[in-house]
Amino acid sequence: MCGIMGYSGYRSAAEVLIKGLHRLEYRGYDSAGISILEDKRLHTIKTCGKVKDLEGIVPSELTGHIGIGHTRWATHGEPSDTNAHPHHDNSGKIALIHNGIIENHSALRRYLAEEGVTFKSETDTEVLVAYIGHLYGQGGVTLSDAVRRALTTVVGTYGIVVMCEDEPDTLVAARLGSPLVLGIGDNEIIVSSDATPIIEYTRNVVYLGDGEMAVIHASSYELVSISDNLPVRASEQQLDMTIEQIEKGGYPHFMFKEIMEQVVTIPDAMRGRVDFSAGKVNLGGIRDWEASLLDSDWIYLTACGTSWHAALIGGYLIEELVGIPVKVEHASEFRYRQSIISDRHTVMAISQSGETADTLAAIRKAHEAGALTMGIVNAVGSSIARETDCGVFIHAGPEIGVASTKAFTSQLTVLFLISLLLAQRAGKSQQEIRAILEELEGIGNKVAEVLALSDAILVLAGEYQACHNFLYLGRGFQYPIALEGALKLKEISYIHAEGYPAAEMKHGPIALIDENMPVVVMAVKDGTFEKVLSNIQEIKARRGKVLAITDARDPELEELADHIIQVPTTHELLLPLITVIPLQLLAYHIAVLRGCPVDQPRNLAKSVTVE
Ligand code: AGP
Repeated sequence: MCGIMGYSGYRSAAEVLIKGLHRLEYRGYDSAGISILEDKRLHTIKTCGKVKDLEGIVPSELTGHIGIGHTRWATHGEPSDTNAHPHHDNSGKIALIHNGIIENHSALRRYLAEEGVTFKSETDTEVLVAYIGHLYGQGGVTLSDAVRRALTTVVGTYGIVVMCEDEPDTLVAARLGSPLVLGIGDNEIIVSSDATPIIEYTRNVVYLGDGEMAVIHASSYELVSISDNLPVRASEQQLDMTIEQIEKGGYPHFMFKEIMEQVVTIPDAMRGRVDFSAGKVNLGGIRDWEASLLDSDWIYLTACGTSWHAALIGGYLIEELVGIPVKVEHASEFRYRQSIISDRHTVMAISQSGETADTLAAIRKAHEAGALTMGIVNAVGSSIARETDCGVFIHAGPEIGVASTKAFTSQLTVLFLISLLLAQRAGKSQQEIRAILEELEGIGNKVAEVLALSDAILVLAGEYQACHNFLYLGRGFQYPIALEGALKLKEISYIHAEGYPAAEMKHGPIALIDENMPVVVMAVKDGTFEKVLSNIQEIKARRGKVLAITDARDPELEELADHIIQVPTTHELLLPLITVIPLQLLAYHIAVLRGCPVDQPRNLAKSVTVE
């Protein structure tokens, strides 16, 4: 998943692109490059490393007003200067940047080599630009014609921006599977993977749809469909994000800022959607579909990574509160296996970015099968938000840290609201609905109490930072939280961590327990607390160290556990909103103590738009 960007206007393109690539860097950060057209020549500067490394080698006298820029997450070919984008065709007159995968790149490379084309890199992207150059070089076609013809031949996914020395005021952008958005300013247009580099110049945006190509000049653009070159009507929208939301605001890392923002983002997910005095939930995005949702034979919840952990909790909630059977599936499994899907089913996709390739493919499969599709998404205008029949935005604001934190708790909050709404409509457990809503109304204060434990958790992090393996255990609603805590730790501190159902420990993982294996145990005082205590005894009998997360004092737990983090209690179903936060903080502080690049962990990227 890369960050790609183009600019055409009156400013220094190099300045706009470098600044924008810094904002896009969370999407991929192993190499970066720009191409600027100046004096009818393309000047391309690219390097392995971060955008700041690129910034250090861009000549200050490069003042051209049109260019493209890229920050890479390597798919084909290791991170290197040669494999960095932009790539050129053999003539050197065309430069291209790409986010996605060209699946038939090998066959194309062989064909082009037979035509005398040579290659410098191992990338699939260079094959694409070489093919465009090959078509363009045959003469009689414009750059956009050559791009469109090439794209009707390639197989795979792409978000690309292309430019050519012969057409000095034109950018050509096209997308299939990898997001692209145009920022329409006054005599300037920015095209980008997402809106974060655009917001400081304009709020007017146009989201490119799959199979669409944009021909862009400084003060005009036109959209066509790639397949038949027919004009496409552009629908301009207004961005609802602010500059402050995409800046660190004095925090050391975006991840810490986003953990701390949860005191606001969790209530924001409910704003305008709950009449707490009447005990009523109202979700406009699914109002016309409530009856269909309740009429489903069963509901699939599908997602990836952290969002899949939210889906697990959503599944428990819907079955417990609404009484409809739920199947929770990894989107990558759901999309390929022979699923039983029909118009009797609903498929809910959960995705922060709204662009995750496997989750988008799962939704498209569900559509084809006639199922009702629903999105629980953060990024407005994203592909999943636009391609689902209905949905609910989580309103968490831009999440820049690669490790998802505030989006996860906002996903949970929206899942609570959806479950409560459907339970209400189904005439279920009105008393329990009111009890949960009362707790939700004041949940912000409890979140603030947990966030105030950050310094105490930093001290604990100091005791655990040198460990090499962790086990995270939980039962019921706390089992997905154990999984999420383990994922947070491993993805930003590079410490191996596994989440497990607590009772499953005896079926194998207990062999790992010794004095070097810390175990984080979700020990909330719910119906399984006594069983969890037994698990802790089994761990202590094997000299394991136990860090317990609990919501109430208990003398036996205090006797057994090496460390305890006590959080405020709330309704049992809502506890995941509270108990995940100390795990986010523990992972964050351990990673910082280990000197890890918390906001841009190695090998990772924010939005997995490749399969
Ligand atoms: C979470 O910390 C990870 N960055 C990753 O697992 C992420 O949740 C996953 O890639 C799904 O992303 P999405 O929510 O944007 O679809």
